[in-house]
Amino acid sequence: MSSNHSPDSSGRHQRPQRLRRTAAIRALVRETRLHVEDLILPLFVEEGDGVTEISSMPGVFRRSVAESAAHAEQAAELGIRAVVLFGIPKHKDASGSQSWAEDGIVQRAAREIKAACPDVVVIADTCLCEYTDHGHCGILRDDHTIDTASTLDVLARVAVSQAESGADIVAPSGMMDGMVGAIRAALDDSGFEQIPIMSYAVKYASAFYGPFRDAADGAPAFGDRRSHQMDPANSREAMREARLDIEQGADFLMVKPALAYLDIVRSLRDTFPSLPLVAYNVSGEYAMLKAAARAGWLDEQAVVMESLLGMKRAGADLVITYHAEEVARWLQKTIP
Ligand code: PBG
Repeated sequence: MSSNHSPDSSGRHQRPQRLRRTAAIRALVRETRLHVEDLILPLFVEEGDGVTEISSMPGVFRRSVAESAAHAEQAAELGIRAVVLFGIPKHKDASGSQSWAEDGIVQRAAREIKAACPDVVVIADTCLCEYTDHGHCGILRDDHTIDTASTLDVLARVAVSQAESGADIVAPSGMMDGMVGAIRAALDDSGFEQIPIMSYAVKYASAFYGPFRDAADGAPAFGDRRSHQMDPANSREAMREARLDIEQGADFLMVKPALAYLDIVRSLRDTFPSLPLVAYNVSGEYAMLKAAARAGWLDEQAVVMESLLGMKRAGADLVITYHAEEVARWLQKTIP
């Protein structure tokens, strides 16, 4: 006969709820935490001197170079250590020549941000889609397919010009085969051996990029990106992409989008434990929560914090998110 005080097979002594009884105990046993240092804030930089709100991303703005520098400073005051720059040039052409221009929009913004707040880590998005008149991420042949060799030459040039203008990290996002190796070689040949590459190693062909394409004027004029971005159905292929990028010298890996791909975040974390891993909480994910919050259907702070925590729990070290500043403010208050 078992007494009331000894463990028994009915499991009545197993009470996980004991560790949930008070806020203090819950905090003591919390496994995952979100810190302000985990956040990377995206900035859209445009020509001119204004500030324009992006209609499909309420609370997110395109800003001039000067406004972007002021904004990076404000973010730094909130404790945000890194920004990722996306440029919206006035002039677009078939080869995306403004992407490597010395006075290109991202190059100017990188210089001004580093001058205004040298401690902010400036990450430059290295891709052509915002700079080409056709909106594709590479140089096109007459039949509209991407010419990989000439695209890699251009991407290498873009990365070097971003490093020259003071970017601390380059982040190739075009999913071009061989992009990390080509950029690594060009950076090294130009004396930028110390500049890390944050590779968008695993980027899916996702409809969640919709609002970003409005924001950055980067929607393809024809066709889509399924010939280079990954099929949402595939996960083994994600491991192959990440392995190839590591072999070519990637210093960070990224999974994008985040919410529908948390299994991929977890697999990358487990398979490649030695590299920092970034999850990109993309524009459509931002827009969804914003819209529901604005309609009064969801508690914004709660769902944003829960989503970002989920990305960290899945294994991300860093999260690129348009919510970065509001999260930084929320983190300054205690979390229940
Ligand atoms: C391409 C790029 C895209 C995003 C970041 N870099 C768009 C695309 O691939 O179509 C999307 C980011 C987002 O949706 O927040 N340079």
